[in-house]
Amino acid sequence: MPSRVFDIAIIGGGVIGLTLARELGGRDARVAVIDAGAAVPQATVAAAGMLAPSFETCAAFGGLAEPLYHLGARSLAMWQDYAPALEEETGIVIDYRRDGTLGLAYRDAQAEDLAKQAALVKNLGGAAEMISGDEARALEPALSNEVVAALHAPEDAQVDPRHVMSALRISLKNRDIEIVPARVLSLGEGAAAGQFACAEGDVFEAQTIVLAAGAVSGLTPMGLVYPVKGEATAIAAEGVVTRVVRAPGAYICPKAGGRVVIGATEELGPLLDHHSVSDAAIAGLRANAARAAPGLSSAQELERWAGLRPGTPDGAPIMGRDKEGRFLALGHYRNGILHAPAAAEAMAALILGETPPFDLAPFDPSRFGPGRFSPAQGG
Ligand code: GLY
Repeated sequence: MPSRVFDIAIIGGGVIGLTLARELGGRDARVAVIDAGAAVPQATVAAAGMLAPSFETCAAFGGLAEPLYHLGARSLAMWQDYAPALEEETGIVIDYRRDGTLGLAYRDAQAEDLAKQAALVKNLGGAAEMISGDEARALEPALSNEVVAALHAPEDAQVDPRHVMSALRISLKNRDIEIVPARVLSLGEGAAAGQFACAEGDVFEAQTIVLAAGAVSGLTPMGLVYPVKGEATAIAAEGVVTRVVRAPGAYICPKAGGRVVIGATEELGPLLDHHSVSDAAIAGLRANAARAAPGLSSAQELERWAGLRPGTPDGAPIMGRDKEGRFLALGHYRNGILHAPAAAEAMAALILGETPPFDLAPFDPSRFGPGRFSPAQGG
């Protein structure tokens, strides 16, 4: 006998799981989130919070650049209303800023790559322009004289992911949506596909299961969603740069109160030490940031951390159903925060039997071939 039965259970309490729960709760669906808490580290709390489709989503490996860009651009537009609505509802300021991103080039070859990226973004309907080094320094006077050109994406934005998570938790509470603290260890199959077993000894059941768990939950098929480690740091550097700057080898994200996030490494491999942060990695990020804006060089370090992005083979998320009929909202890799509002809207529609507001076919798990990820037949 299951110890609890839910209508809709979302497994995974990262930004994707919580925004989806909020969306479903706002539409009167009875939903609960099952979250492992600190037992399974989240990508969300390690994120920098850039909402930057102009940079982050043009690099899909499997030819999905176009749908991925449109997903990011749609969600970026949604954040304009989502952020103030979440703040107003919860009283938590999430530090939403829509002041654009500057991508820097020190050499002509880097400028040429950025120009190609700008052309791609413009071709896809976004705002991106190449500007000179002097124009970049007019926008951000702290930038080094080494900067010869920059890609300016004026509509990109950012939030503070930790504040977003606090606000989402309050919002779920407002909607009577429970976050059940439990670590799901295994999912049922066949006749027991509606059940899942937890480390605490409980077996839960749900009419509808949504898997929004991260890369190290042990619940996502190995090889399809895998951890991509990122190390990052925050320093105290009030007012040195005012908008997101993406330099070769580091991005710089100024947050409220003079906190500046500098990120992030990318490392993958089955033997990753998930939690460690190396002096060498942080020194490298800081050197790369200081090359872009020398005024950052001696700023005091506030903290350093490592997180695990949920990567996928083609760099695009997995949104659809598995052969057991479970819904999958997984693998947002570098863009979980950016994608959250649009992914929640689309997944809620799918779960409630409606037509999603945009085509989810490019993100369907069946793109990886038959087997465990073949789409569900029928209900
Ligand atoms: N989106 C930034 C990162 O994953 O490092």
